[in-house]
Amino acid sequence: MTNLSLFAISHIFALSFCLVSIITIAETDIKLPEIQFHNVLSESAAPVKVQITSKPVILLKYNDLYKWNVTRNEIIYSTAIFGHYTANWHAFDPSSDAGHAISFWSITTDGIFQSFDNNNYELRAKWVGDE
Ligand SMILES: *[C@@H]1O[C@H](CO)[C@@H](O)[C@H](O)[C@H]1NC(C)=O
Repeated sequence: MTNLSLFAISHIFALSFCLVSIITIAETDIKLPEIQFHNVLSESAAPVKVQITSKPVILLKYNDLYKWNVTRNEIIYSTAIFGHYTANWHAFDPSSDAGHAISFWSITTDGIFQSFDNNNYELRAKWVGDE
């Protein structure tokens, strides 16, 4: 190995270290939201079963509100099972949700809706049936 390539390799290591440090510093500055899941499916319906990445399965009854704070700036996958229907969505997506104080999710018969102000909701996932 020539002295030149050793020189190059040591610089690549130094540069990688700088990059990792910069990314770490940048991530600590990102505001991660609180997430709220609100079951508004139907008063008479059975609870909806929800599986969120790295959390135990939860059952949400009508009008239940489940909240937690995001701690890592990574996608959080979420699946809801309601009778024969399933819906999949990203409970947290860094590209669209980081920087917001609260990400409100409404679980409705028409699908899964998201809002950042608890007022304007947008459809994010539809129920997929078994028929
Ligand atoms: C999330 O963090 C905020 C700010 O620290 C706090 O006010 C809120 O109660 C937390 N929410 C939960 C569900 O722990």
